[in-house]
Amino acid sequence: MKHRVQKVEAALADAGCDAVLVTNLKNIYYLTGFWGTAGTVFISKNRRLFLTDARYSLLAEQAITGFDIIETRSALAEIAKIIKDDKLSVIGFDSEVSYAYYQELTATFTEYRLLALTNFVEKLRMIKDADEVETIRHACQISDRAFLDVLDFIKPGQTTELDVANFLDFRMRKYGASGVSFETIVASGYRSAMPHGVASDKVIQRGEMLTLDFGCYYNHYVSDMTRTVHIGQASDQEREVYEIVLRSNQALIASAKAGVTYRAYDQIAREVIDAAGYGAYFTHGIGHGIGLDIHEVPYFGKSDDTIKAGMVLTDEPGIYLENKYGVRIEDDLLITEDGCEVLTLAPKELIVLN
Ligand code: GLY
Ligand code: MN
Repeated sequence: MKHRVQKVEAALADAGCDAVLVTNLKNIYYLTGFWGTAGTVFISKNRRLFLTDARYSLLAEQAITGFDIIETRSALAEIAKIIKDDKLSVIGFDSEVSYAYYQELTATFTEYRLLALTNFVEKLRMIKDADEVETIRHACQISDRAFLDVLDFIKPGQTTELDVANFLDFRMRKYGASGVSFETIVASGYRSAMPHGVASDKVIQRGEMLTLDFGCYYNHYVSDMTRTVHIGQASDQEREVYEIVLRSNQALIASAKAGVTYRAYDQIAREVIDAAGYGAYFTHGIGHGIGLDIHEVPYFGKSDDTIKAGMVLTDEPGIYLENKYGVRIEDDLLITEDGCEVLTLAPKELIVLN
């Protein structure tokens, strides 16, 4: 954790501030190793403060090194008291805080300029270290196993989407997950044309496409995977659409490596779908970073920023044909200097369940 805090200190000047207040709990975990529901971190050149209330102070003493741990129910007032002679002028804070919290900030730090910072710690989180990669890899393995198991569970004409979601969720917990990283998406038939059709009580029928998009938390890090399978005989057009999405997913795997621009990361996959004539039906971005959050920077717009070794990114092309069906295939990719490693290893050839 120490080197992470040093990175924050080194980034303060570039961000235009001499101290930062960190309130996002994932960022606090990243910097301190503390996992709880209440905490505030303050970092300046000569202060590293962690403030929490009595529920968590013992846990904090055990989990955190290198910070002064302060038990209080008035974190901001306490910080203001401690730093009053530090000659600070600009204090950064997470721009995502609530308006009520912002009002408390402005009322407490009247002597300072307050600077809203967006993705300040999140940008440091983009590059994963070896431990983080291993943890995400394990989370992906849990998802892979749950996917293989669910194939035997689905009984056309009997099983509902919710049954499938609950099965996946419990299986991932059985294999060591602490929970799901987002509400499991199980979308069958016409519902699979909704990219984020969360599970409903619809019964899965023969002749339908079925999209499963799910992931888990393992040791605080996420996995995020999508597979689309077919129930019964797939038509020629369904097979064609599936193959286009698979080629798009694979084209990105073949090209993703450090140095690829965000723009190109999206384009590589999109061009395959465009060339096949389905460009209008790929209606979302190609992916996002994963880590402590299911969606974290980077995202892939029209930017010339480049992806870096150590990023873990999703590759999730899809084609959605309204009132008919949809197909999405999603993998988690670890970017390396000369390529990428696919962390989600569940099969991707079209699986037809009977
Ligand atoms: N797989 C869920 C999402 O990316 O939003
Ligand atoms: Mn995703």
